[in-house]
Amino acid sequence: MNLKTMETQIKNEFELLKTEGDCSIFHAKYLGKSGEITALISNIRNLSNEERIESGRVLNILKRETESNLFKLQKEIKEREINEKLMNDKLVDITIPSLKAETGSLHPITRAQREIEQAFRDIGFIIESGPEIVSEYENFTAVNVPEDHPGRDMQDTFWLSNGQLLNTQTSSLQNHCLRKYGPEFRAFWTGRCYRNENLDARHEQAFFQVEGMMIGKDISIANLIYFNKQALQAVLNRTDIDVRLRPSYFPFTEPSFETDATCIFCDKENVRQETSTTEENKHHVGCGVCKGTGWVELGGCGMVHPNVLAQGGVDPNKYQGFAFCYGLTRLVMLKYNISDIRVFNSGNLEALGSIKGGAKNETIT
Ligand code: FA5
Repeated sequence: MNLKTMETQIKNEFELLKTEGDCSIFHAKYLGKSGEITALISNIRNLSNEERIESGRVLNILKRETESNLFKLQKEIKEREINEKLMNDKLVDITIPSLKAETGSLHPITRAQREIEQAFRDIGFIIESGPEIVSEYENFTAVNVPEDHPGRDMQDTFWLSNGQLLNTQTSSLQNHCLRKYGPEFRAFWTGRCYRNENLDARHEQAFFQVEGMMIGKDISIANLIYFNKQALQAVLNRTDIDVRLRPSYFPFTEPSFETDATCIFCDKENVRQETSTTEENKHHVGCGVCKGTGWVELGGCGMVHPNVLAQGGVDPNKYQGFAFCYGLTRLVMLKYNISDIRVFNSGNLEALGSIKGGAKNETIT
């Protein structure tokens, strides 16, 4: 191959170099120990004097230019690779917030449970918990529910084939607390309750109750009313709801009261308004939550019946106390303006996540 042809070939092949690897192969082919330019230079000594001078000059120029061009190209390729790496690193910049951060949130019932339990812990109550499957004795007999009480009826209670049942009320833990902590104590607990009821806007078959019990000497109805209000303020945390106690009947308390809260759903636009015969009920007729009464039943309370104390090994002649309970699910309805109880067990994450307090991006602990 004459020098001219080699120059053209080197030029053409140089144009095709793209990577570090290409450059190394090119270098070995022309400039390495066995390279073609190197070989031509070593062959100069075999040429005639005349040819030697001219070929030496041309080959030296070719070698220098090829080396210099290759060096420049290698530098450019290296810089380009560094820039590309930087760009790629930027694409996975971990400081950029993720586009779709899907994190869970606490269920509104869980949040309310934690708030109310903390409120009672702060005023000296022990926080207890109980099982969801209980004995007939715990659920009924120990809390003075007579054999023929309708609450034991198959309609309300989910009985298990072994004679046990799904806890129908948190009062089933009263006997356990009396035996464990009696005769002087304050205890508070949350429980899931099950009743075989028809579902509607305020009735579920699985719902939560919270219950408190205070036993000691000189405990009065005044104490009951104080703690009752304390509990409601702690969990509701809103001033637009009135609460009333009305006389009632429970087998495990005497006297007994029902705790009601004013219905906040009646005036909502989406509630069907109908004409009422009385001015007082005008706003409430047609409301699916309070059924036109204007009040939502939250729970029951009263002074613990002497038979319940005795069943728990506490002497009713020396000690007395109160017990109170709320439907926690109902409380949360009022707290967050939820007009249908069925949303809580629906598993509808969209609806549950949008409930104020069921904040998104919350850390679950
Ligand atoms: C009881 O369960 C008594 N153990 C309460 C009690 C405790 C009275 C201590 C005295 C002393 P009641 O069946 O009324 O009572 O239920 C209490 C509350 O649970 C109701 O007011 C309501 O808020 C809630 N509740 C009852 N049934 C349902 C249901 N199916 N769905 C949702 N909440 C309910």
